[in-house]
Amino acid sequence: MQVFSDLKQTRNLCENWRNKGETISFVPTMGCLHEGHLSLVKRARTLADHVVVSIFVNPLQFDNKEDLLKYPSTLDADVNILADIGVDFVFTPDVDSFYPDGEKEVEQIDLGAMFTLLEGANRPGHFAGVATVVKRLFDLIQPNSAVFGEKDFQQLLLIQQLVKKFSLDVKIYAEATFREQDGLAMSSRNVRLNKIERSKAPEIYRQLEIIKQAINAGTKDYLSLEQNALKNLIAAGFSPDYVAIRAIDTLLPPQNDTDKKVALIAAKLGNIRLIDNLRL
Ligand code: PAF
Repeated sequence: MQVFSDLKQTRNLCENWRNKGETISFVPTMGCLHEGHLSLVKRARTLADHVVVSIFVNPLQFDNKEDLLKYPSTLDADVNILADIGVDFVFTPDVDSFYPDGEKEVEQIDLGAMFTLLEGANRPGHFAGVATVVKRLFDLIQPNSAVFGEKDFQQLLLIQQLVKKFSLDVKIYAEATFREQDGLAMSSRNVRLNKIERSKAPEIYRQLEIIKQAINAGTKDYLSLEQNALKNLIAAGFSPDYVAIRAIDTLLPPQNDTDKKVALIAAKLGNIRLIDNLRL
């Protein structure tokens, strides 16, 4: 497995593969890898001749500087794990070479109103930062496919919109959320939960399940379901940003004829912000 941070070398390596008619599947990450990331890599392995993983904590997508500073980093362990599961190349750029004109000079990509909702409303600038870094990574690596996790549901819609807007020749695959045995969605941020917070954290998934069961049983009063979950999360010690039942493709409140829905929650436990969602 090759590991390097140089952009030119990265472009050459990937171009070489493409010139030989070999395909590339790509998994972008911010490191601190867990089973959820590994499931994305395993999927990527089934899709192409070569798997490329990037590890880059993208400062543009952090609206909160403390969150950026505290974002966990386990580069050596990550690289060892990736070597064991058949990755061909790990790209580990540094901020200065990735954004040579400085972060502030980067023209950020805006993908429309859907991304001002939910995470967009609570983390101003976050999605413009994600779209910008992923577009740069796609332009550099030019993968045939890329794999993203459904845990970041709105991010997945953002990437699909990015591909559409720029007519990018990359197929996007979505992998189901990987969960701990108690239901907690795997996230790099989980390592920052203390013991008490960790024991409370699965409550988010429990509330999503309660919503799902109520809707399966025929409830249409989405507002009451959202408010009930908010109340339960607060009682369990969370500071929720939102509990939202939305149409799966627009993320707008469901209408009578909305067929596919998703419930999404974002809530803070101490200083750690957790998100999760469940298709309904
Ligand atoms: O989901 C993430 O880890 C990040 O948002 C991504 C897609 C790697 C972009 O920095």
